[in-house]
Amino acid sequence: MAPDNRIAMCPGTFDPVTNGHLDVIARASAMYDRVIVAVVNLPWRKGKTVFSAEERVALITGATRELGNVDVEPFSTLLVDFARERGAMAIVKGLRAISDFEYELEMNQLNRRQDPQIESVYLMASAKYSFLSSSGIKELATFGGDIDDLVPKEVARALKERLSR
Ligand code: PNS
Repeated sequence: MAPDNRIAMCPGTFDPVTNGHLDVIARASAMYDRVIVAVVNLPWRKGKTVFSAEERVALITGATRELGNVDVEPFSTLLVDFARERGAMAIVKGLRAISDFEYELEMNQLNRRQDPQIESVYLMASAKYSFLSSSGIKELATFGGDIDDLVPKEVARALKERLSR
């Protein structure tokens, strides 16, 4: 495949993005010419998010600016349809634990059934982020826990502000 044609998609809800997500996005950006962070924008899915899709896109855009080859976009279709539309050859996700494996195995089967041409690639979470999740972050932030080393500064600030309302 020609250089600068190797596009990967990193999908997720990212409510909010964590340093664990950013670790996977940065590693993907070193492996592919371009990475599109695809932000789920389906208000009915998984209940209401703390941040709107626009806010999640803005927070990830700020946190990935220095990588240079990362774009962030919301989507509200099937993931593989969005990946095909953007010319992505791979869906790249992080894997933390066995519990992730079961869910991702199912997603992998669903996505490959829709489009066998788009490969799913899994990066093992870095050890220091292997316990980190968006829901854990929200729980900590709700009860005043320290999240400063777990999310970008801007995310910590936005979360504290939102949850204190
Ligand atoms: O766990 P997340 O962050 O909510 O994961 C979202 C996503 C899109 C990566 C996951 O649900 C997936 O792989 N879905 C495949 C099926 C699909 O396209 N659903 C519609 C968009 S959620």
